[in-house]
Amino acid sequence: MAAGMGTRMKSEKPKVLHAVAGRSMIGWVITAAQTAGAKRVVAILGHKADVVKAELDARFGAGKIDIAIQAEQRGTGHAVMCALPALANEADDRIVVILSGDAPLLRAERIAQLTAACAANPAGMALLSTVPDRDMPYGRLVRDASGKLMRIVEHADASADERAIRDTNAGFYAVRLAHLRADLNTIKADNAKGELYLTDLVARAALRGGATSIDVPFAEVSGVNDRVDLATVDLAARRRINEAWMREGVTMIDAERTFIDADVGPIGRDTWIGPGVCIRGKSSIGEGAHIDTGCVIVDTTVADGAYVKPYSVFSESVIGPRTHIGPFTHCRPGTQVDEGAHLGNFVETKKTHLMAGAKANHLAYLGDASIGAKVNIGAGTITCNYDGFNKHKTTIEAGAFIGSDSQLVAPVTVGRDAFVGSGSTITNDVPRGSLALTRVKQVNIEGWADRFREANAKRKKASE
Ligand code: UD1
Ligand code: CA
Repeated sequence: MAAGMGTRMKSEKPKVLHAVAGRSMIGWVITAAQTAGAKRVVAILGHKADVVKAELDARFGAGKIDIAIQAEQRGTGHAVMCALPALANEADDRIVVILSGDAPLLRAERIAQLTAACAANPAGMALLSTVPDRDMPYGRLVRDASGKLMRIVEHADASADERAIRDTNAGFYAVRLAHLRADLNTIKADNAKGELYLTDLVARAALRGGATSIDVPFAEVSGVNDRVDLATVDLAARRRINEAWMREGVTMIDAERTFIDADVGPIGRDTWIGPGVCIRGKSSIGEGAHIDTGCVIVDTTVADGAYVKPYSVFSESVIGPRTHIGPFTHCRPGTQVDEGAHLGNFVETKKTHLMAGAKANHLAYLGDASIGAKVNIGAGTITCNYDGFNKHKTTIEAGAFIGSDSQLVAPVTVGRDAFVGSGSTITNDVPRGSLALTRVKQVNIEGWADRFREANAKRKKASE
């Protein structure tokens, strides 16, 4: 169920598209359902259905998730009625699991448990119940003296006595399709909200012996209604992600301040992650890597044994094995750093391939460049790749040495093993094995400084 507006989010974006640890809430819920073995998933959409469908197509593949439209939100019972046509060809004994698109922390194991409980119950219905840690306007589970589940009374419809019941409806159900088909026709909107309540199915199941309830911790089923809930759920998701990686052999010295998105992985054993590190998008980290304080890694692959010093920022890049990067290195999209290469402080790269053992240790801009094996880029080197209209390529062949404070005006090639003298502005190709120099020749004027000081001191004294 994901048709609701999510008014309290105060957002242009449909609620279920808000991200928890980098993955949309509806993405979490569907991933859990698939992990639990769901053969089909039908998303019930309404508010901004086209935008939600676009996310589902992007995340799960075009058309992989079936869509049912609930044009007008007339209650959770009505929402499920809208999905029945999508299930028209399914057999009566199939079990339908009904989940909320705004409760991303539900575990796949729990969905499997819920399904098994439904399968084992002759009444063909099971649901998750919870005791919230604070007052929540949830439906209350009403039982008879023997403990049989008789019905759910919604908060808005409940008497004072009923509100005192601690067991509440978490909002997740498994029902045999035959019962769903028959019972949804019998529910009425004769209640405080004037809605068709899905929860009325529980009273129907009572006529067949009663639904099973499974009590689960509130934190696992609590949904998101506003941005405060979103932050709470995000923190819980992040803790779960970090714990899972630590159990896989990753060291985090401050797991509370380590931000790893849900879709990141794998992260190899013996990798060490410092405080404040953010790893987002489709990123992965190899074994024995070191990612120090404050690094931000987005859609990037970091290979085994890479040593990344603090505050380095990577996006859409490939960082090779046993490289040394940072501190304060910025690798922008299209950067590839091969084995053992070094990038140091205040080096920015973009669409640049640094081959094995190449080094740019200080203050450089390397854009649209191919940098051969074992090249040394001096401090302050700039590839001038942009002429105001087009981007041009710089090629530096293996073993070349670029002296400090040089500009390479692209398109340009520096040949194999060539040298560029410090402070040169290179506009023409440099042949292999040669030295290119574009500096003005140095002149030394002997005694000039002494004479300059003396003359100025004299002038100053005269004016006092
Ligand atoms: C529902 C349950 C309540 C339970 C609570 C737990 C009903 C009648 N009540 O209440 O017993 O304690 O969840 O969170 O089911 N939705 C639609 N279409 C609609 C209405 C809702 O798709 O017409 C979706 C919402 O987007 C949301 C989910 O269903 O994802 C739950 O709806 P919501 O309005 O939040 O139900 P509650 O009133 O909270
Ligand atoms: Ca709700």
